[in-house]
Amino acid sequence: MNKRIAVLLSGRGSNFQSILAASQSGTLGGQVGIVISNRPGAGGLDIAREAAIQTALIDHQSYESREAFDADLASVLESQSPDLVVLAGFMRILTPGFVSRFAGRLMNIHPSLLPLYPGLHTHQRALDAGDSHAGATVHYVTGELDGGPPILQAKVAVQPDDDEESLAARVLQVEHQIYPTAINWHLSGRLQFEQGRLHLDDKLVPPTGQQWEPS
Ligand code: GAR
Repeated sequence: MNKRIAVLLSGRGSNFQSILAASQSGTLGGQVGIVISNRPGAGGLDIAREAAIQTALIDHQSYESREAFDADLASVLESQSPDLVVLAGFMRILTPGFVSRFAGRLMNIHPSLLPLYPGLHTHQRALDAGDSHAGATVHYVTGELDGGPPILQAKVAVQPDDDEESLAARVLQVEHQIYPTAINWHLSGRLQFEQGRLHLDDKLVPPTGQQWEPS
């Protein structure tokens, strides 16, 4: 049966675009059924419309509480029965109730080498710390902010002349590689998360995720 994913985003949608490209080339192992944004101007909505993918705008500014926003988000998602809900630059914290409802089928990409730098301004924090490497991590979402089990992580060397923008751009390139890959692993049933341990093809995934090797 064809697997379907739902994408949640807040901005330009370059990760969504890479997921869409993988879906169209047959390497994702599924299709994007819907793209949902909490921001009316999100570029990702335009990409979806151009590709004739269903979109929904659930503007968080029209809601009085996180719980009310998340309840509407959950009901739109449930009407789609997605195999996986993908956060692709979705810049809102989800309530514990929402997270537990979608536990095991909720994935995020975060632009740092988790567990380093959960939250915002990850690249500047890596530069300020003098780190030799930055990167990105795909992980399952749990109730802890950017704290769920890492699936796949890609490292990028920091260059002496890097600033936040140049580093972010290089990390984004690897994000576009690792997110479709991790989604494919999930959709093809290769990932198992039980009793706090994540396995890929029955092998224990390291605590910082599989390390990405560029091909
Ligand atoms: C990406 O760098 C993603 O890792 C980050 O937002 C950017 C979205 O870019 N996500 C987070 O910071 C989540 N905490 P995109 O809209 O071009 O995919």
